[in-house]
Amino acid sequence: MALPNIFVLTGAGVSAESGLSTFRDKDGLWTQYPLEEVASIQGYERNPGRVLAFYNLRRSKLFEAKPNAAHFALAQLEAAWAARGAIITLCTQNIDNLHEQGGSKRPIHMHGELSKSRCHDCGDVRIADGDLLLTLGCMACGRIGGLRPHVVWFGETPLFLDEIYDALSTADLFVSIGTSGAVYPAAGFVSMAREAGVSTMEINLEPSENADAFDSAHYGKASEAVPAWVAEMIALAH
Ligand code: OAD
Repeated sequence: MALPNIFVLTGAGVSAESGLSTFRDKDGLWTQYPLEEVASIQGYERNPGRVLAFYNLRRSKLFEAKPNAAHFALAQLEAAWAARGAIITLCTQNIDNLHEQGGSKRPIHMHGELSKSRCHDCGDVRIADGDLLLTLGCMACGRIGGLRPHVVWFGETPLFLDEIYDALSTADLFVSIGTSGAVYPAAGFVSMAREAGVSTMEINLEPSENADAFDSAHYGKASEAVPAWVAEMIALAH
């Protein structure tokens, strides 16, 4: 039996049980911080120190976090599919690296990565796993004070969109996990998949904002619902 090519989109809900805050739940980050001040280029230009401090705190929380059963299960699915020559495209809105820590080979980080810096002046991107400070200089152009986290802010274009749209349109199944469906373009992937004739499913704690757009859904904690779905898929593949 040929296995279906699967496009998986993940959001903050997949990392919630690893101890990382989501954004829009009742104790989420956007209920504690003004997003236009900490996650926009205008906020950065007004007060870069505040923005760097916000992401330095996110990075320190990430150091304490470990992947959970959902991350491990997705890596297991990826390995099982790769062994049979089928494709799992894992696209995440998360800036953490818990998919990698869980064993996924190359998640597409459409909103960037907390473990990298980008120079606001020359665009140089490199691994930076310590705090970003206004006193640091860019290793490429030497300018002091221009290092920002390599993350996508509101008003900026997400990364790898061409690769994402190609993979979406050639998948057999689109699965959205742990995302509220509030932020575009990711929230629009389900409609694009449907238009391309791709089956769609969501796994989330509760119905997302675009729940009606999915063909099917499993509601529950990612650490339970994702391994259960992966076990079903792997059993079908044998
Ligand atoms: P949200 O905080 O908007 O949504 C998280 C979703 O995860 C909600 O629907 C929750 O119900 C669900 N959830 C919470 N705990 C869960 C659990 N244990 N198991 C399963 N689901 C759970 O986060 P995102 O949808 O990822 O962008 O947010 C999208 C983007 O908005 C983020 O990438 C970020 C944010 O602003 C930028 O910063 C550019």
